[in-house]
Amino acid sequence: MDGIESEQVVAADAQASGGGGAGSRTPLLELRKMSKQFGPVQALSEIDLKVYPGEVTAVVGDNGAGKSVTLKTISGIHPPDGGEILWQGKPVHIRTPKDASALGIETVYQDLALCGNLDVVQNMFLGRERTRNHLLDENSMESAAAATLSSLSVTTLRSVRQSVASLSGGQRQAVAVAKAVMWNSKLVIMDEPTAALGVAQTAMVLELTRRLASRGLGVIFVSHNFNDVFEVADQIAVLYLGRLVASLPAKGLDRQVVVDYVTSGASSRNGSQLAHADGA
Ligand SMILES: Nc1ncnc2c1ncn2[C@@H]1O[C@H](COP(=O)(O)OP(=O)(O)OP(=O)(O)O)[C@@H](O)[C@H]1O
Ligand SMILES: [Mg+2]
Repeated sequence: MDGIESEQVVAADAQASGGGGAGSRTPLLELRKMSKQFGPVQALSEIDLKVYPGEVTAVVGDNGAGKSVTLKTISGIHPPDGGEILWQGKPVHIRTPKDASALGIETVYQDLALCGNLDVVQNMFLGRERTRNHLLDENSMESAAAATLSSLSVTTLRSVRQSVASLSGGQRQAVAVAKAVMWNSKLVIMDEPTAALGVAQTAMVLELTRRLASRGLGVIFVSHNFNDVFEVADQIAVLYLGRLVASLPAKGLDRQVVVDYVTSGASSRNGSQLAHADGA
């Protein structure tokens, strides 16, 4: 059931061409004209977004621009009411969080995803515990959890038997990410993962985010912090009032262009066209 390491490595090899331009590669996830309405509020209008394996796609935008709703449609919390979702090139329906996790989509929230009263191992195996002769196989779960954390170079945890309540925000984030990796997720969605973190913890989470991409996973990273975004992103997608107004390769991108798109939905610095990374 859980071939912890091997599949991820194969995925990383298969995506060795990753990073930068899209070329003819198939996106891991593609949203086509995806829309979502809440009563009279058009939260998302015909969003087109491509997320590639081996890349970090940052989604930025002002308050209310539609970032969280976009993530929630992908993770099955708010199924879209228009448009299409393609997964590895094939149309899929994601109606529930269970549908999303069956595809290999894992969402990491700052605090909500873990149970404070349980320890690191219990959290990582919650609902998917290993048993042996009808008893919990604590040793095997403990060593698998520790192996995954160390494969991600998460070294600041004193013990995997520490309760999650006793961890720092950054360490919690690391455990949540390791959990996603351990269960062979293909797409990890992070909503404001650094919002509540200090400088050192933020650096750790950003490094971990890059490491996920270098293993061949796709990552969607939502943040208000442009420093963080420019540090981790391969692609930067900008939402403005529920529309996707730009999707640009991060490398060499003028920060002010992103600010323009975020604040006004357009940028004269970059031509006024809807900029798409894979056309470039
Ligand atoms: N459950 C809901 N019911 C009704 N309207 C909603 C719901 N969730 C979001 N919206 C509306 O959809 C729009 C987009 O909200 P969303 O939460 O995606 O913004 P955001 O980009 O994540 O903003 P922030 O940066 O503040 O987190 C907003 O106008 C919001 O009021
Ligand atoms: Mg939000």
